[in-house]
Amino acid sequence: MIIRRAVADDHTAINAIVQTSSAYDGPYRPMLDGYEVTAAQIVAEETWVAEDDAMLGFYSLVFHTQPELDLLFVSDAAQGRGVGRLLFEHMRARAASRGVTAVKIISHPPARDFYRRMGAIEVGLAYPTGAVSWARPIFSLPVSPSG
Ligand SMILES: CC(C)(COP(=O)(O)OP(=O)(O)OC[C@H]1O[C@@H](n2cnc3c(N)ncnc32)[C@H](O)[C@@H]1OP(=O)(O)O)[C@@H](O)C(=O)NCCC(=O)NCCS
Repeated sequence: MIIRRAVADDHTAINAIVQTSSAYDGPYRPMLDGYEVTAAQIVAEETWVAEDDAMLGFYSLVFHTQPELDLLFVSDAAQGRGVGRLLFEHMRARAASRGVTAVKIISHPPARDFYRRMGAIEVGLAYPTGAVSWARPIFSLPVSPSG
């Protein structure tokens, strides 16, 4: 498996992973209705993909008002094999290389314990907004200069 910088052509595979994610089934589905990770976004942000023969997952680290892990997805078929941890540690190292000391994460509720396990600290709750009719845990991930 490798982790490489995403390119615009990854747009279809990235959106397929997002839209087929069973973590967003049921009451969470409205969040993904009409949602698309655009090719422009993929290129502009720190978007990285994990792949072997096919794409296994990806993350997007953004630097808008503050450094934030905007997206982290592992395909349903590839979950539970350490891909999420590898992507997460890669993201932490990228943040460190850009001089960041903390990364904000607004967690999908079922992923809360994953972020805890990765060392992120729960600092609050995001109120429901728009298509997101549920509260979401907010985490802060400490980043040391060495990553
Ligand atoms: C959350 C997600 C990225 C984890 O990816 P993954 O590849 O399955 O995770 P890993 O196999 O690398 O697991 C790493 C560790 O976290 C634990 N873990 C993974 N998902 C977990 C969960 N939902 N709750 C608690 N622990 C979890 C694993 O047991 C493992 O622990 P270990 O290393 O001590 O054995 C993946 O489940 C996913 O893409 N979910 C759907 C999209 C999503 O909700 N993303 C977050 C958006 S904010």
